[in-house]
Amino acid sequence: MPIVWREQMSVGIKSIDEDHQRLIMLVNQFADVIRQGGGLSGGNEGAIRTLLGRLQAYTNEHFAREERIQDQANYPGLKENRSHHAALITELNRKIERYAAGEKAEKKLTGEELSAFLNSWLVNHIIKVDLKMKSHKFTGVW
Ligand SMILES: [Fe+2]
Repeated sequence: MPIVWREQMSVGIKSIDEDHQRLIMLVNQFADVIRQGGGLSGGNEGAIRTLLGRLQAYTNEHFAREERIQDQANYPGLKENRSHHAALITELNRKIERYAAGEKAEKKLTGEELSAFLNSWLVNHIIKVDLKMKSHKFTGVW
């Protein structure tokens, strides 16, 4: 099931909502490729590696933007979010490495497993962490 962005997922800050929508799109694209049977050995290796690279780059960009906005708005959860983001990036990179190593991985991770991980990883980030931002007053143009 693809993730569908809903109004309840809005943190009330346009640039962050747009980032989340874009991350959802990338995660859904990955799920699509895997569902079509185009794993790393299925002839789609180049596309998959590009997609995952894009996801990693955009995650870094998004977390940095979120932290910058929170910093500027004196958001009380900034410190907690910073360590949460660092942990999420480590986890993401580790899973992608395991998947990308294919048969060579110490503990193999299939495309389906990576896809399921990405879905919960992203939804948890948005719902469990970022929605807390709704209770803070963010002023200015972001
Ligand atoms: Fe976020």
